[in-house]
Amino acid sequence: MKKLQGAGLRGQSAGQTSLSTVEQEGSLRYLGFSIEDLASHASFEEVAYLLLLGELPNRNNLEQFEKELLELRTMPDSLVKVVESIPAEAHPMEVIRTIISYMGVIEPEKSFDDQLSVTKRLLGVTTTAIVYWYKYSHEGVRIDQGTGEKSVAAHFLKLLRQEEIDDLHKKTLDVSLTLYAEHEFNASTFTGRVCASTLSDLHSCLTAAVGSLRGPLHGGANEEAMKMLEEIESVDEVKTFIDKKLENKEKIMGFGHAVYSVKDPRSDIIKEYSSELSIGHEDKKLHDSAVIMEAYLKEKKGLFPNTDFFHAPAYHYLGIPTKLFTPLFAIARIIGWSAHAYEQRGNNRIIRPSADYIGPGDRSWIDIESR
Ligand SMILES: CC(C)(COP(=O)(O)OP(=O)(O)OC[C@H]1O[C@@H](n2cnc3c(N)ncnc32)[C@H](O)[C@@H]1OP(=O)(O)O)[C@@H](O)C(=O)NCCC(=O)NCCS
Repeated sequence: MKKLQGAGLRGQSAGQTSLSTVEQEGSLRYLGFSIEDLASHASFEEVAYLLLLGELPNRNNLEQFEKELLELRTMPDSLVKVVESIPAEAHPMEVIRTIISYMGVIEPEKSFDDQLSVTKRLLGVTTTAIVYWYKYSHEGVRIDQGTGEKSVAAHFLKLLRQEEIDDLHKKTLDVSLTLYAEHEFNASTFTGRVCASTLSDLHSCLTAAVGSLRGPLHGGANEEAMKMLEEIESVDEVKTFIDKKLENKEKIMGFGHAVYSVKDPRSDIIKEYSSELSIGHEDKKLHDSAVIMEAYLKEKKGLFPNTDFFHAPAYHYLGIPTKLFTPLFAIARIIGWSAHAYEQRGNNRIIRPSADYIGPGDRSWIDIESR
């Protein structure tokens, strides 16, 4: 079927934002700062502060913000019980959705004045809870929830690996969280904004957004890219592997983008980290295959990797199980979703577009016995 003009609202403006700009030719800025500058100079916590409060923090602001986040990481006892009751077979995004939703039950947002506190609490607690669930359901271990680590990235890795984490690993995940934190009117953010426009609570907005992020055409792509790269046994197979996929008209996960048309600026940044981490790693071929795939798809189809693609080898090298790839995207995006919900609330009109009707013309009623 031929695609309708404007299908998927592609290229149409659906509102205004002052949070980020995504330019077709491959540029991304958060409140005016380029993603390249943020990734190399700022910590994820600084970026989160910028998105939530509109300006970069000074040293005091940042230290205070980091301290608050650290104090908000521990799960309430009843959440521990909920998390322990979720089976290992659950999709991890269902776990994230449940954690956020349950937090809305036990620590509801009483008024919009609470919105920033809710975001900080969810960022802290979700990070702990998803790793706690993974370790408990997959390994039968009840981990200690505290790590003493200042950053979200280091806290996540230390909880997961139960060992000291080296600086390159901490920095890689920290940069990754910055890259995933915000991306204008993508599907999950738009979902969250629609929910916010009804003046619903923040937990509902974020739960709705998680549902959209779960799909393989959105956040699920990093996980799918990993599965694909793992299917390739040697770098010599990459081209035949891709040829087969293209012949079967299959989408290559982690490639293409709804807005960028030449490159996704986030891809080169995470690719550098994947490259560095691959050196000397027993699964070096994952990164090497990814590099060949990138060049081959460019040459054959003019396709380029989006941010999810090189995240797959990079996360693998950090020792993160594939199941936890998309939840990490969600944890980072709690910041962007929240910032958009605040923005929507700050200048709200309920989002209610119209549709072009393409069904049958007017018809006369047919009694049930006559059909
Ligand atoms: C991201 C994505 C959903 C954008 O979709 P979109 O804006 O509708 O782009 P289109 O699907 O119209 O792409 C245009 C053409 O490129 C092709 N294309 C786009 N992405 C492709 C991919 N990953 N693999 C193979 N072909 C692809 C499409 O088939 C289409 O070809 P056609 O005109 O012959 O039908 C799409 O590129 C995709 O499904 N990518 C894989 C999933 C993914 O990585 N998602 C994460 C996004 S950050």
